[in-house]
Amino acid sequence: MIGHLISLHLGITRDLREAVCLAAAELQGAYAIVVIEEERPDRIIAARNGAPLLLGLSKNGNYTASDASALLQVTRQMVYLEEGDVAELTSDNYHVINITKNKLGTKVRRVELETDLTREAVELGPYAHFMQKEIFEQPVAIANTLEMVFSAHSLSPRLFGSEAESVFQKTSGILILACGTSYHAGLVAMHWLEAISGLPCSVEIASEYRYREPIANPDTLVVGISQSGETADTLAALKYAKSRGHRYSLAICNVPESALIRQTDLRFLSRAGPEIGVASTKAFTTQLAALMLLAAVFAKLRKTISKKQEQKLIDGLRHLPVAIQLALLIEPQIIEWAKNFSHKRHALFLGRGVHYPIAMEGALKLKEISYIHAEAYAAGELKHGPLALVDKEMPVVAIAPNDSLQEKLKSNLQEVRARGGELYVIADADSSIQESKGVHIIRLAEHAGMFSPILHTIPLQLLAYHVALQKGADVDKPRNLAKAVTVE
Ligand code: AGP
Repeated sequence: MIGHLISLHLGITRDLREAVCLAAAELQGAYAIVVIEEERPDRIIAARNGAPLLLGLSKNGNYTASDASALLQVTRQMVYLEEGDVAELTSDNYHVINITKNKLGTKVRRVELETDLTREAVELGPYAHFMQKEIFEQPVAIANTLEMVFSAHSLSPRLFGSEAESVFQKTSGILILACGTSYHAGLVAMHWLEAISGLPCSVEIASEYRYREPIANPDTLVVGISQSGETADTLAALKYAKSRGHRYSLAICNVPESALIRQTDLRFLSRAGPEIGVASTKAFTTQLAALMLLAAVFAKLRKTISKKQEQKLIDGLRHLPVAIQLALLIEPQIIEWAKNFSHKRHALFLGRGVHYPIAMEGALKLKEISYIHAEAYAAGELKHGPLALVDKEMPVVAIAPNDSLQEKLKSNLQEVRARGGELYVIADADSSIQESKGVHIIRLAEHAGMFSPILHTIPLQLLAYHVALQKGADVDKPRNLAKAVTVE
């Protein structure tokens, strides 16, 4: 369609750049287009609106791509195009115009910058898959994300931007908007924010929020969570929240040059490094680290924690990379579990409280890369319906840390066993849950307290990875899915 439209204009103007500008001006919605004319293969015209597109510059030629990681083999010198930009590239030159105000474009200057990304960061190295690499990179990814906290020895709002302190002082509630795995991170954060800082918090799926008529409180800070920072629904939901009256917004994002980072008043960059596997892993746990930090900063500001508790939180954050490293040691046991899942068609994931979103994340991981139908339930909901599904063919994964809900969870697990369901329990080191017929247990190396959702994620990521591997699925590029969902 777009090709025909450009060719129609080309028939009149005879100039490819003009034809792309005129065609782009007629397009509605998000696009990133790259066009080459048969007669002039030495020239590329690239245009973007709502979808990411950048230029890569080098002595040996100029390039264009939707993501910097695609160009690291050839250059680290990048130009990020903005909404309505049209770029013309030859091997030794480029220029950019913008068509927002003038259909044929007005010349603009865009900053050339050297990306922090390195070639190694996007290479597999000794790993078989990017997902495996990214799971095992989590200790370093978390350490990098929290580096500023470790060096500062205190929780400062400035970690979220220079304006953050004055915005946070006025904040009376939090609204989190996100999709998929990032939405799960938001749900965990809701528990933390309310419990630690006493701030009311709600979490919404961005694609739903943007189409309803929510009542906005201007002092409720809108937090957009996104690994890519290019998810169309999240970007649109944040804009919509502003139009409904929310005064301030904050991005928790992993890509510094993304649209989300440019769109919000405040920002926190998780420093997970490029995540290439479609299934999000290190981006999720670094989002959680960032969100725990946000809860802790609000708690300090609102004086809901003492100096001693603040120090305990910082110590806990500092210990996280080591704790994750230890959690990764359970891989051999997970490989054994995976053998019992690879031939199954369905699986149930159970959790309670702050671990219910972790069960949701475990189910999402399993379904997206192994194509096994997986559902997550808040364990207390079992008896309201899903128990009917449980029989000996149904593996049931339970996230069972030593928290205040453990006794309740134990009786939910008995309900499963009584129907013949096979239980796969992820428990803390000192858990009172015992292995028995039909009850398999993996114990994490440590009892992680309030950081437990982060640690309990690791076995679920490994489980999804090894089940998919045993099924021979394309772990990094699951069918029908894209890494960044830049369309509605
Ligand atoms: C996670 O494994 C998914 N591939 C997907 O749910 C993802 O988290 C979602 O599309 C949101 O992406 P974002 O974090 O880049 O906004």
